[in-house]
Amino acid sequence: MSHWTREEIQRIGHLVVDLIAEHLSGISNQPVFHPMPADLAGQLLSTPAPSQGATPDEILRDFRDSVEPYPFGNGHPRFWGWVNSPPALMGVFADALAAAMNPSCAGGNHAAIYVERQVITWLRELIGFPAQAMGLLVSGGSMATLTGLAVARHVRCGIDVRADGLRNAPQPFAFYMSTEAHSCARKAVELLGFGSSSIRPIATTDDYRMDVPALDTAIARDVANGVRPIAVVATAGTTNTGAIDDLAAIRGVCDRHGVWMHVDAAYGGPAILADEYAEALKPIGSADSAALDPHKWMFVPVEAGFVIVRDASAMRDAFSLVPPYIRSAGSATGVYGLPWFSEYGFQQTRGFRALKVWMTMKQFGVTGHKAAIEENIALARYLADRVQAAPDLELMAPPGLSIVCFRYVGGHRHWPEPSGDGERRKGGAAVHPGEMTLAGRADEATLAGLNRSILERLQLGGEAFLTSTELRGRYTLRACVVNYRSTRDDIDRMLNAVRALGARPTN
Ligand SMILES: Cc1ncc(COP(=O)(O)O)c(C=O)c1O
Repeated sequence: MSHWTREEIQRIGHLVVDLIAEHLSGISNQPVFHPMPADLAGQLLSTPAPSQGATPDEILRDFRDSVEPYPFGNGHPRFWGWVNSPPALMGVFADALAAAMNPSCAGGNHAAIYVERQVITWLRELIGFPAQAMGLLVSGGSMATLTGLAVARHVRCGIDVRADGLRNAPQPFAFYMSTEAHSCARKAVELLGFGSSSIRPIATTDDYRMDVPALDTAIARDVANGVRPIAVVATAGTTNTGAIDDLAAIRGVCDRHGVWMHVDAAYGGPAILADEYAEALKPIGSADSAALDPHKWMFVPVEAGFVIVRDASAMRDAFSLVPPYIRSAGSATGVYGLPWFSEYGFQQTRGFRALKVWMTMKQFGVTGHKAAIEENIALARYLADRVQAAPDLELMAPPGLSIVCFRYVGGHRHWPEPSGDGERRKGGAAVHPGEMTLAGRADEATLAGLNRSILERLQLGGEAFLTSTELRGRYTLRACVVNYRSTRDDIDRMLNAVRALGARPTN
């Protein structure tokens, strides 16, 4: 059981590789998504832990029958939900190799540490942070934002938060982020003990970017009222529409008020490689901290997030706690005497996630990533153009980066605003476009119901996978192209499906 022969490992390994090959090569001929059958889900939820060990063949058979056929969908060329990409092949294999080595990347003098250091340097240079900055691979954008804001708390609160927490704070604190900021920023502020009431949601302009004068005013008002501003969370690529806040202007405001600037570039950061966005994203490098997710637009298999902090010693001060059983590391400290990663973040034992980032970056090369990202942006633009040219579709926001928000509106692209509640349809029930034509109008609730029904049927039909969101309270379909497998033909097929479903409501 515990000692495999080389031949046995090879035999099982080949079975695993066959499963991987079948999954990754066959996926485009499968429905993008089909939900887990209820009986199988029930079985998984109710089966107790096995009392006896099974053979690898039995375990792999279970995987093949009960797990592999029901994926999330994000390996498929027509999956554009949330911000999830297909995995880079070398990232897939890297995960197995990393597990085979199974190091703890808390620190020490072994190869994984230097691989992570190298990856940190590559990502740091990608987004233009200086050499003195310190980075860390984390689980994703949420943990990166939590880590960056934890350092901001340590630096900006003016009290010894590590010793006393926030209970002796002489004044209230405030954080600033646009109404389009990702929910992880609010969760981070809550988790750090400030409470969400310390957040000042800053309005956005028509293009969903933070209203910078409004930010300036909010900070000035807080200062005048004795509130201490801690940090601004700017977004470089919002989740809803791909909008990029005016980072240079926000940097100016932060400098003027002495406020920490965190940039959430979890999604948009890698687009700094794209000629069209390089200028707008360049000021990420001027932030005090930033988040960038290799598991989004760099195609590294989840989980792979990255946080970087300009002031490395502040980051270390915020987290370092070195008990004697770690301090006496001896030769494990390494030839370069580098401090352990665990001094820069919350985790002690850390996985070798650097390997999949390293191998994926080697697989694509900078030029390969640039080409894939630019192609995704072009595909999103193609989708937006097709939406604008279609009388039965409506673009819901200016397309940003690789995100397009749109909806089906039947034969009436420009609906007059509803005049009264009497014409509203309750419950979001779908309505036939012909009915809308007869009525001569459709209100927001009707269109939301129709598009909700389109989305539901599109996902269950398996032809393509979109998700939805709300923009200024209006329901919209949303496509986020972070997918190196997608083509124009895939976009056409999705649009045909949406229009066919829109013209054929079920209730
Ligand atoms: C802009 C942005 N920030 C942060 C996050 C959170 O990242 P994660 O889900 O990797 O924690 C997301 C996730 O989609 C995002 O789009």
